Amino acid sequence: MPTGSTTLSDAEFVVVANRLPVDLEKLPDGSQRWKRSPGGLVTALEPMLRSREGAWVGWPGLADADVEPLVEDGLQLHPVRLSAQEVEEYYEGFSNGTLWPLYHDVVAPPMFHRHWWQAYVRVNERFAEVVAGVAARNATVWIQDYQLQLLPAALRRLRPDLRIGFFLHIPFPPTELFMQLPWRRRIIEGLLGADLVGFHTPGGTRNFRWLATRLTDATPGQGRTEVTYDGRTVKLGAFPISIDSAALDKLSRTPEVLERAKQIRADLGDPAKVVLGVDRLDYTKGIDVRLRAFEELLSEGRVDPEDVVMIQLATPSRERVEHYQKMRNDIEQSVGRINGEYARVGHPAVHYLHQSLPREELAAFFVAADVMLVTPLRDGMNLVAKEYVACRHDNGGALVLSEFAGAAYELKDAILVNPHDTDGVKNALHVALTMPREDAAKRMRALRRQVLTHDVDRWARSFLDALGLPPADGSAS
Ligand code: ADP
Ligand code: G6P
Repeated sequence: MPTGSTTLSDAEFVVVANRLPVDLEKLPDGSQRWKRSPGGLVTALEPMLRSREGAWVGWPGLADADVEPLVEDGLQLHPVRLSAQEVEEYYEGFSNGTLWPLYHDVVAPPMFHRHWWQAYVRVNERFAEVVAGVAARNATVWIQDYQLQLLPAALRRLRPDLRIGFFLHIPFPPTELFMQLPWRRRIIEGLLGADLVGFHTPGGTRNFRWLATRLTDATPGQGRTEVTYDGRTVKLGAFPISIDSAALDKLSRTPEVLERAKQIRADLGDPAKVVLGVDRLDYTKGIDVRLRAFEELLSEGRVDPEDVVMIQLATPSRERVEHYQKMRNDIEQSVGRINGEYARVGHPAVHYLHQSLPREELAAFFVAADVMLVTPLRDGMNLVAKEYVACRHDNGGALVLSEFAGAAYELKDAILVNPHDTDGVKNALHVALTMPREDAAKRMRALRRQVLTHDVDRWARSFLDALGLPPADGSAS
């Protein structure tokens, strides 16, 4: 965690995200401390950026916090200040009350408020000013995610010398849904300020390209992977993100993690099977879907609560946004109902932890789980699915994965499900619980080949190569 400032200099390589990789937390006694930021974006980018010794520009996670730039472990952190009202309107409002649900197939209704949009514009411009003051001449700036879609163009206006990449970590929506957005043209123009715009899947790239040529003056470029806009070529591409697979594989083999995994199973009463869910507590993740499937399997007697235990780990997330509050209540009610019906003293059917756990502890849960349930209604990628696979060096365990997670494009050997089909999810869970060991191991071996060879470093290199940035160590790739 950050310890204080050493040297700050103009950066040749700058990552910009809404959040810094660390989050400032206010403790009940009024003091503050840094902790790791939640979510997959930070999981993926932090190891990559540390190897490049660049700068990271982002919000420190608390409203009205005046934090000086600092250097932590060779990485420059440049905080962007947000007022309480901006947190409400730009972050909770436009980013997470408008864009997040709109881009995730409107699984919750997006809200369109003009004052949220205005705050989004203002904050994107503030980010542009901060980045313009941090980046060295001709530097490369890599902008991340839906909170900062106006930043590429805003930054180009201030600093035309920069090489600018943008990557969207969430799905880019179908064109019919995107067209609902009152500020649709402005968003596309904002993104077209980049030299390269990246998505997880080719579908996102196609949708964006179609919208760019319909809503703005952009014209199709030579290939399908570029457009011409404002006299420049804007490259487009699909870059499926990943994890630091080797590091997680290594962590999961350590005696401490293996011992802890055994302990977890013992604490659960050494059940025949352990079923696991690990998510940010978000309504797109389909936590309700898997609880319903598990409950029905129990009620039909297809699963015996003496043999099978479910664990749901859920990181608190966006707790002041209304949809999130409602979903938390619903999930906690379901857990209570299932336990009321099927638990006995000292032996719950569902263990639910509304907590963020350390990486080592998470790895131990992955090692301990016979079945991993990843059932989002829509997800850009879903790194949890890849993390589970990376931790199964024993080729054990079975992954049940939603077709609507970006990860399903690569993890074809998972047991794929449509999360809207409760019977399908129930059957998939049942199959996973009863699959012969050799069949499960065959699937897991294939999954591991994919995850271990397609790691986050490869993702970053392919994006930065397409952007024209030389490799971190200066050697040819
Ligand atoms: P998202 O980015 O939408 O949160 P991902 O699955 O891509 O979804 O990434 C989530 C990240 O958060 C993963 O690295 C995962 O290990 C981590 N995570 C999820 N739940 C927890 C938890 N309860 N404790 C600690 N880390 C968690
Ligand atoms: C997803 C988003 C990230 C975001 C993370 C955590 O991974 O793609 O941009 O940072 O969730 O959400 P939060 O709202 O807490 O930053």
